[in-house]
Amino acid sequence: MKMFAEVLVLSLIFRLIPADSQFEFFKSRCDLNCTFGYDHLDSESFKAFPSNCTNVCAYLSLDENSNLSENELNPVFQNVKVLYGYLNVKNTKLKDLKFLKGLEKLECDEFTNLKIEYNSEMTTIGMTNFSATNCEILISENVKLDRFDLPNLKNFYITNSNNNILPEFTAKYLSPNFCITLEEMTNFMTSRFLNFGTFNVPFCNFSTPTNELFGEKVCEIRNFTSSNFDELCKRIIGNVIIENGDEQYVNKLKNVTWIFGTVKIYKTNLTTIDFLDSLEYVTNDPDGVVGSEVRIQVKGNKNLMSAVFPNLKNHRELIFKGSVGY
Ligand SMILES: *[C@@H]1O[C@H](CO)[C@@H](O)[C@H](O)[C@H]1NC(C)=O
Ligand SMILES: *[C@@H]1O[C@H](CO)[C@@H](O)[C@H](O)[C@H]1NC(C)=O
Ligand SMILES: *[C@@H]1O[C@H](CO)[C@@H](O)[C@H](O)[C@H]1NC(C)=O
Ligand SMILES: *[C@@H]1O[C@H](CO)[C@@H](O)[C@H](O)[C@H]1NC(C)=O
Ligand SMILES: *[C@@H]1O[C@H](CO)[C@@H](O)[C@H](O)[C@H]1NC(C)=O
Ligand SMILES: *[C@@H]1O[C@H](CO)[C@@H](O)[C@H](O)[C@H]1NC(C)=O
Ligand SMILES: *[C@@H]1O[C@H](CO)[C@@H](O)[C@H](O)[C@H]1NC(C)=O
Ligand SMILES: *[C@@H]1O[C@H](CO)[C@@H](O)[C@H](O)[C@H]1NC(C)=O
Repeated sequence: MKMFAEVLVLSLIFRLIPADSQFEFFKSRCDLNCTFGYDHLDSESFKAFPSNCTNVCAYLSLDENSNLSENELNPVFQNVKVLYGYLNVKNTKLKDLKFLKGLEKLECDEFTNLKIEYNSEMTTIGMTNFSATNCEILISENVKLDRFDLPNLKNFYITNSNNNILPEFTAKYLSPNFCITLEEMTNFMTSRFLNFGTFNVPFCNFSTPTNELFGEKVCEIRNFTSSNFDELCKRIIGNVIIENGDEQYVNKLKNVTWIFGTVKIYKTNLTTIDFLDSLEYVTNDPDGVVGSEVRIQVKGNKNLMSAVFPNLKNHRELIFKGSVGY
């Protein structure tokens, strides 16, 4: 029995003293009185959380043993705007992370991440002020999660400690009703410092009174035909397919900036592809998985001599086959 008690005391002390490198990470970023010395949040440790600080250094992990309700968490985290360390929420019964709705920035220590997984009751994340992070993000196996509700998350950055490897955003095994808003997808896609891992998320239906997003008309087109295409549409939700017979209509696409879908140009007798001059972003099949599919495919265009996509950003996959010179 005495042995057991000693082991217990030792392990408590061990948990209170972070390893050297972790200590360095905290020391350069926070006052000691704004540093949380535990790496697990539960009904005991949470009393030590420096809840008066807006910038906090903490390794925050909540799990099935945390046993803290939203009502207990809310006051403790209400002042936190910047968190240095990590945030892992796993196996909890939390319905959301709104207790962190004031959090604006999460800066991860090396080899740590923002992980939200196996939370069986979570329907939304709801960190609505969260805007900046250098963390890898893994949102997985939250079977009731319908929405991220992360409307401001757009400032992805890297720190030296990332070794210049871009952080990956992975989202998978969520509710069958899960969807990502076009605004969220736009924020993620336009980030230079972000890669997508498995990202199995369909787009939410888009409907505003004007059908405009950032001043540009959005059209959901599930059955694209160039002859029927409305030239006023600048952002398309759906896959764009150009085939034999469409040659005469392709210039209608000149002003398209975003395709929330894929592009296929198959078996035309186009000699040049110069009608996607305004195209900046191509995402993924709106019903598919980011990363699972080539975004722009140009195949079997026997007369094709040149193709230019002068404004395409962050393009990751492009396939040319069966054209002159390919
Ligand atoms: C936090 O602030 C309150 C009110 O300003 C103060 O009474 C309390 O002592 C502070 N707590 C800590 C841990 O500094
Ligand atoms: C932390 O402690 C210092 C002095 O040790 C004090 O000046 C400062 O106000 C404290 N910060 C908070 C947020 O309690
Ligand atoms: C969880 O907390 C509730 C209320 O705070 C308490 O009644 C219950 O015993 C706790 N459960 C565990 C496993 O600690
Ligand atoms: C979120 O940010 C807005 C704008 O800066 C601010 O007015 C609001 O108080 C913040 N919300 C929380 C919960 O801190
Ligand atoms: C979008 O709308 C269609 C028909 O209006 C509906 O069947 C579908 O479930 C909606 N999708 C989402 C993600 O809300
Ligand atoms: C898609 O368009 C083609 C050609 O216009 C038509 O034959 C087909 O029925 C349409 N499919 C759907 C699902 O609307
Ligand atoms: C594209 O935009 C320009 C400038 O606003 C306009 O003159 C032109 O007609 C548009 N083209 C198409 C195909 O919509
Ligand atoms: C493409 O080829 C077909 C078949 O050879 C021909 O009928 C058609 O006029 C051609 N179209 C263009 C734009 O050259």
